[in-house]
Amino acid sequence: MNRPLGKKPNIVLVGFMGTGKTSIGRRLATQLRMRYVDTDDVIEQDNRRRISDIFAEDGEATFRQLESKAVRKVSKRHNHVIATGGGVVLKAANMENLKRNGVVFCLTATTEEIYRRVGHQTHRPLLQTPDAMAKIQTMLVERHPYYAQADYTVKTTGCSFGDIVAHIRSVFYRVVNRQSE
Ligand code: S3P
Repeated sequence: MNRPLGKKPNIVLVGFMGTGKTSIGRRLATQLRMRYVDTDDVIEQDNRRRISDIFAEDGEATFRQLESKAVRKVSKRHNHVIATGGGVVLKAANMENLKRNGVVFCLTATTEEIYRRVGHQTHRPLLQTPDAMAKIQTMLVERHPYYAQADYTVKTTGCSFGDIVAHIRSVFYRVVNRQSE
């Protein structure tokens, strides 16, 4: 991370769909008095279209380009909690941009927990398949090396939101204080 003096870095949350990036990100932002932004929201706002419509009309490759653009935009900010879409890790340039001003935390959960949380939802295009459990398992294996590039990994299964937020907060402050020494 390369941080200008006096500017608080970002907290970046990556992780598979359903690992709690939005809920935890919002709580972190409130507690730490940081601003909150979600790359999926930026994509939808900037393009005035829902993610599911972008996938359906233009395909995943176009969505990934728009996602990279959103990442470039939010990575320039400071003092933000940035929640990202589950596939943001797939492009090296996204990770480079996010790490420039930010500490990257990967939230994880067990496959069963992820399925319980998102397996029956209809707004995630990649999970609209007859066997969502199998799809989740395959994607988790494929993406494992990408998620491993985060600075820190945080398990969420069996933990309360309060515990997870407190943990991320303490790691983040340790990193920030170490940098200003
Ligand atoms: C995706 C995750 C989604 C969204 C899009 C693609 C993915 O975000 O960006 O449907 O590739 O894992 P969430 O992780 O917030 O569900």
